[in-house]
Amino acid sequence: MRKAFIAGNWKMYKSIPEAVSLVQVIRAGVHTVQDVDIVVCPPFTALAAVNEALKDSNIDLGAQDMYSETEGAFTGEISPLMLKDVGCRYVILGHSERRQYFGETDGLVNKKLKTAIKFNLIPIVCIGETLAERDAGKAKEVVANQFEGSFQGLTAEEFERLIIAYEPVWAIGTGRTATPQQAQEMHGLIRSFLKDRLGDTVERVRILYGGSVKPENISELMAEPDVDGALVGGASIKGESFIQIVRGSLLEAKGSGKVSSS
Ligand code: 13P
Repeated sequence: MRKAFIAGNWKMYKSIPEAVSLVQVIRAGVHTVQDVDIVVCPPFTALAAVNEALKDSNIDLGAQDMYSETEGAFTGEISPLMLKDVGCRYVILGHSERRQYFGETDGLVNKKLKTAIKFNLIPIVCIGETLAERDAGKAKEVVANQFEGSFQGLTAEEFERLIIAYEPVWAIGTGRTATPQQAQEMHGLIRSFLKDRLGDTVERVRILYGGSVKPENISELMAEPDVDGALVGGASIKGESFIQIVRGSLLEAKGSGKVSSS
C-alpha cells in the first residue's frame, strides 16, 4: 500500500515574496488533504522563507539539488547539512536538467543520494530517456543503465528511504505527456529492477511520474498500478493547478486502493 506523493519542482522561478505568496495559496488549498504526501521544492534562495510559511502545515519542504560532501571548499555548492538546517526533508537529485546542462553523471548522482540518505534527507532520484533515445528504441536500455549507475551499491534499507521519479526528457516542459500506458510500461520496468534488489519490500518504494503533469491528466496517470505520484514542474508554480493536481491524485488513489492508513 503506497501513499500518493505529489511534489512541485519550482525550478529557477520565484522571488522570495512570490514564493511565500504561492505557498500560502497552496497551503490554504490543500490543508484538509490527508492521504497525499505533498512537497514543494523552491529555489535555494526561497527555502528559509517558504519553510517559515509552511510551519504546522501538511506540506513538506524539498530542495532541487545538493552536493555530495558535507562541507568544504566547494564554491557555489550546498551541503545536505545546510538543507537540513533550512528545514528540508526531501531533495531532488539527478534531474535531467542537471544531467543535460551541468554534466551530472550517474556516478555523481549515486554519491549524492548516498550522502543524502546518510543525513536523513529523502532523495527523489530522477531517471528517464530523451526523445532521440526513445525514437531509437532504446528507452528501456537507457533507463536500465541509469538505474544501475545511479543506484549502484545501495542496500535494501537505503532503497526504502528514497523515491524514484521517472521523467522522460521529451515530456518535460513540452506539453507532451507520456500516455498512462507509456508511463506504466516504464514504471513497471523500474519496479521489476527494484524487485530484483529488494524482493517483496519493493511494494513500499514509490515511483513518481514527471513530464507535463496537469490537473487534466493526473487522475489517469494515477490510475496505473505503478504510478504512485507525480513530480510536477510548470503546473506546480501556479497555485490553483498544483492544488487541483494534489486533489486529483487523491481521488484516484482512493479509487484504486493505493492509499495507506499510515
Ligand atoms: P514539467 O511539469 O514542466 O513538464 O516539468 C517536469 C519536471 O521536470 C519536474 O521535475
